[in-house]
Amino acid sequence: MARVLVTGGCGFIGSHLCQALVSRGDRVRVLDDLSTGLEENLMPGAELIVADVGDPDALARAMEGMEVCFHLAAVASVERGVRDPRGTHRVNLSATVGVFDEARERGVTVVYASSAAVYGDLDVLPIVEDAPTRPLSAYGADKLGCEQHARVAGVAHGVRTAGFRFFNVFGPRQDPRSPYSGVISIFCERLSHGQPVTIFGDGGQTRDFVAVGDVVAALLAGERVASRGAPVFNVCTGRSTSVLELAGTIAEVCGVRADIRFEVARSGEIRRSLGSRARGRDVLGLAEPRALRAGLEDVIAWMRAGRPGLRVREEVGVSR
Ligand code: NAD
Ligand code: UD1
Repeated sequence: MARVLVTGGCGFIGSHLCQALVSRGDRVRVLDDLSTGLEENLMPGAELIVADVGDPDALARAMEGMEVCFHLAAVASVERGVRDPRGTHRVNLSATVGVFDEARERGVTVVYASSAAVYGDLDVLPIVEDAPTRPLSAYGADKLGCEQHARVAGVAHGVRTAGFRFFNVFGPRQDPRSPYSGVISIFCERLSHGQPVTIFGDGGQTRDFVAVGDVVAALLAGERVASRGAPVFNVCTGRSTSVLELAGTIAEVCGVRADIRFEVARSGEIRRSLGSRARGRDVLGLAEPRALRAGLEDVIAWMRAGRPGLRVREEVGVSR
């Protein structure tokens, strides 16, 4: 039974990770300010500290007695970083430097979320981890900064880390309500209610959509390989799907005819994104990822069930 801290544990990916950790018998503590996460996503059996990960006192309290920290807390919206680069930098990079520093004090291993946004728009596909990093957003630049600080924390201070560059993650508990939500959550929400969807551009743009269960598997494997060398891994499927194909598949799963409207492409849009999963497979031993269609069925089933969290709202084990 490990003692594990999950920052951002009430968020989309964090809630799935906590579910896996509690299920395997770990003692789980969550540090989350509930800015985008929901208290009803707190896994029963986990303890919750409601605080800002950038607050050094709260972070020290949260890390006390822990062996591993999964650091997922971030302003995960690229769009927010465009509007408020200083505010998002404080959470996405400065707070992460704080996490590595606190981990150094306490001998805690850190497994953290980076992003495929560190790559920017690359011509050579699939993207391997050694490809050039040329982020095109403040969000991507901050995530790359996290990786650089992980390396320094390892080399200079002996902190063991592993970083994960998630591609386009989807699954139950991903919030579909913002216009900047992931395309899968928006399309599933709209098509399951028989509403039209909008495709920006011609729909030929492609993404590597990875199911949240595969992200959790990668993070758990990361605990084993975390080292002073600060390794980084793609979290992807190595399969490419166009947005037009995606709309068609979701409509099929929903049993409706896709009503698609086309609008001009988003500015700064990446045309093709596809990751290589070779390192994750060979070094972490990650299994074949979940098929897109099966993952979409999970999302639709969750939406049809009324988008439940992991528990009913209650005040158990919460400190503020
Ligand atoms: P999310 O918004 O659902 O989860 C983030 C969690 O962090 C939320 O619970 C939020 O309340 C919490 N949080 C935010 N700021 C905080 C702060 N200052 N102090 C404490 N808690 C704070 O997003 P997610 O999709 O689950 O993302 C999790 C991680 O994965 C993030 O680091 C994100 O950048 C990264 N990531 C996600 C994707 C994706 O496709 N979802 C892709 C690449 C990287
Ligand atoms: C991600 C960010 C985005 C950022 C971009 C920069 C998320 C959820 N989005 O975009 O904010 O600008 O990285 O690298 O993290 N689409 C539609 N219709 C919709 C929604 C989306 O056609 O209603 C298209 C988009 O134009 C895009 C694709 O679907 O081509 C995927 O969109 P999205 O899920 O937002 O992810 P990214 O494009 O990877």
